[in-house]
Amino acid sequence: MSVNIRCATTEDLLNIQHCNLQCLPENYQMKYYLYHALSWPQLSYVAEDEKGRIVGYVLAKMEEDCEDNPHGHITSLAVKRSHRRLGIAQKLMNQASRAMVECFGAKYVSLHVRRSNRAALNLYTSSLQFEVSEVEPKYYADGEDAYAMKRDLTSFHHEKALRDRAHKEGNVHTHLGRCCGDHS
Ligand SMILES: CC(C)(COP(=O)(O)OP(=O)(O)OC[C@H]1O[C@@H](n2cnc3c(N)ncnc32)[C@H](O)[C@@H]1OP(=O)(O)O)[C@@H](O)C(=O)NCCC(=O)NCCS
Repeated sequence: MSVNIRCATTEDLLNIQHCNLQCLPENYQMKYYLYHALSWPQLSYVAEDEKGRIVGYVLAKMEEDCEDNPHGHITSLAVKRSHRRLGIAQKLMNQASRAMVECFGAKYVSLHVRRSNRAALNLYTSSLQFEVSEVEPKYYADGEDAYAMKRDLTSFHHEKALRDRAHKEGNVHTHLGRCCGDHS
């Protein structure tokens, strides 16, 4: 099964919303998706199948309240049932995190997850090195508690430093999302 991960565009938003409605009880109005896409066009990613159909997405943003300690936030993540356990969520999360570092110098990324969401908790702790920072009681509309989680992004800063050095020495030229003005 071939799946391509790419930066999300405003044209993807309806399909992202559709995927969200299929996968999660937390749904958003279109204007909230648009707010992400227009404010942080570098940070949200989609996974598409060989026919260009969206099979997963990560919706991400920067927190705006902390200029001296920039950090990103994962608003929503989902992969369609037909495409789970293929490493897609892991890739989407890593792409969004890398872009947060590359484009905004994010130090860490945060998110909320339902206490009962075993699959997501396993993904965040086992595969993505997130740690629980606190429990937020009754965070969700139905009264379920959330774990607030954080992932330190230092390793992505090291990766960026290596990439920057290689660029400087003229060895490689890579485009990450739209960070260096490549809007194709
Ligand atoms: C959680 C979710 C996004 C994971 O997507 P995915 O693409 O299947 O995840 P990946 O294939 O990248 O999984 C990577 C690792 O996460 C863990 N994981 C993923 N799904 C799991 C499951 N159902 N049970 C236990 N661990 C799981 C595993 O460690 C897995 O590695 P492995 O397959 O080598 O064992 C997906 O199940 C989903 O969309 N769920 C509904 C929406 C949701 O809960 N979103 C998160 C809201 S906070």
